[in-house]
Amino acid sequence: QTLNIAVIAGDGIGIEVMPFGVRCLKAAASVYGFSLEFTEFDFASCEYYLKNGKMMPNDWKEKLSQFDAIYFGAVGMPNLVPDHVSLWGSLLKFRREFDQYINLRPCRLMPGVPCPLANKKPGDIDFWVVRENTEGEYSSVGGKMFEDTEREIVVQETIMTRVGVDRVLKYALELASSRPKKHLTSATKSNGISITMPYWDDRLQKLQGGYEDLKIDKFHIDILTAWLVLRPEQFDVIVGSNLFGDILSDLGPACAGTIGIAPSANLNPDGKFPSLFEPVHGSAPDIVGKGIANPVGMIWAGQMMLEHFGFKEAAAAMLKAIENVLARQEAHVLTPDMGGKGGSTESLGSAIEKEILAL
Ligand code: NAI
Ligand code: MG
Repeated sequence: QTLNIAVIAGDGIGIEVMPFGVRCLKAAASVYGFSLEFTEFDFASCEYYLKNGKMMPNDWKEKLSQFDAIYFGAVGMPNLVPDHVSLWGSLLKFRREFDQYINLRPCRLMPGVPCPLANKKPGDIDFWVVRENTEGEYSSVGGKMFEDTEREIVVQETIMTRVGVDRVLKYALELASSRPKKHLTSATKSNGISITMPYWDDRLQKLQGGYEDLKIDKFHIDILTAWLVLRPEQFDVIVGSNLFGDILSDLGPACAGTIGIAPSANLNPDGKFPSLFEPVHGSAPDIVGKGIANPVGMIWAGQMMLEHFGFKEAAAAMLKAIENVLARQEAHVLTPDMGGKGGSTESLGSAIEKEILAL
């Protein structure tokens, strides 16, 4: 079995961390005996935009559709191209056109990573956020009336479809079932938002029938954010609408340490279109060119890709390799954002690659 991967490094530190992601994936493939085919593209970057006046060629969809996955670095050169142009012209197009309706983020406290929450150790924070990625609060239905007058009105509708709600809830139910804790938490706000959120709750009620072995609970989003910070150990899989999931999927990784290590997947689980795997961080213009970008988010995103496509052993080994290297706490290996001294993208990325080969 060969996995065909489109590689889009993008801009800034995306270009610096991508090679280490690819190297670690190749290492895992060589140890576990499967093959990965990488094809690089220069579009979906501001560099491309500055040359061509657009973020991507017109046939980008045809070009990318033939791949199983897109391995994506980061996009953005904010002082040359406005962020809404670069983001809407690339990543957001992928999510919508490729119907990547699941946004998945692990929130896991890694050994050796300083935790912003008091008295937490690895194992205490280990949960997943499943975010609905295509509809909900982020709709373009609405408008403005009486602009620039005292009577000004703005409206933006939330759209929930049965297909859209059911598919994300089902995905979360399945994910929770596959985990030892068998615990699913749903983010809601049905006390305040009286039509769409009770609908979300109802659909979960209807769908949870086949999952008698799961513990399923729901929390209103306000108290849920508080519990995440106060008692993260009580969560395993959390599912939320587009807006609630967006909030939770930034809060979660923040509770587990530096932004440089968090990965994320935009999934089209049906496999009709490619899924996209990327670090959570952006192009980090403030540290670009210094060789100190943390490559762990990029490498971990690659790990999620292997996991998604069923290369379970290789994925487990990659995660273990990241943990082992971080746990050693070697200042000359770690990047400065992790408290390293003298460490670099190169030293940390190579150490993880070596660890994968040695496991
Ligand atoms: P950012 O994630 O690029 O940087 C935020 C802060 O975290 C910076 O101080 C940066 O140095 C640090 N940081 C980020 N990744 C790091 C890493 N791997 N190692 C060490 N330090 C790291 O977010 P920011 O500054 O808001 O945005 C910069 C550009 O990136 C903008 O153009 C923005 O639109 C774009 N962006 C792109 C994303 C994507 O491609 N998915 C996501 C977020 C932002
Ligand atoms: Mg966000």
